[in-house]
Amino acid sequence: MRYEWTKDLETGHSVIDSQHKELIAAVNGLMDAIESGKGGEAVSSSLNFLNDYTIKHFFEEEMLQQKYNYPDYPNHKKIHDSFKTVIRDLKVREMWKGSSGELVNEVRDKIGGWLVTHIKGQDVKVAAYIRSVSK
Ligand SMILES: [Fe+2]
Repeated sequence: MRYEWTKDLETGHSVIDSQHKELIAAVNGLMDAIESGKGGEAVSSSLNFLNDYTIKHFFEEEMLQQKYNYPDYPNHKKIHDSFKTVIRDLKVREMWKGSSGELVNEVRDKIGGWLVTHIKGQDVKVAAYIRSVSK
């Protein structure tokens, strides 16, 4: 199973949306790397890309929230921070144990599933708020 970009994932903020598309592609790329059987290096580099891009995206999304004084910023930041530890933990385990069938399930559910839920539940609110105050 791979994640697809669908209309219900659109927040309407072009920068946020294009970064989310990149993240979804990175999640799919990581699952491909794990399942390709090419081994550790392909998985590590996909996982590193996903980790780095997530950090960059969260930082930029948080800057936007601060710029517009988004009222739920502290909570949103906490949610981002705890997700960063999930990816970091996955990275550490992959380094020690290598990739496995178990890893692809975790990437699908804990990373991809989380991302989709977060976009629909939290990020759409951020974009709607930015729209409402920048009119
Ligand atoms: Fe977010």
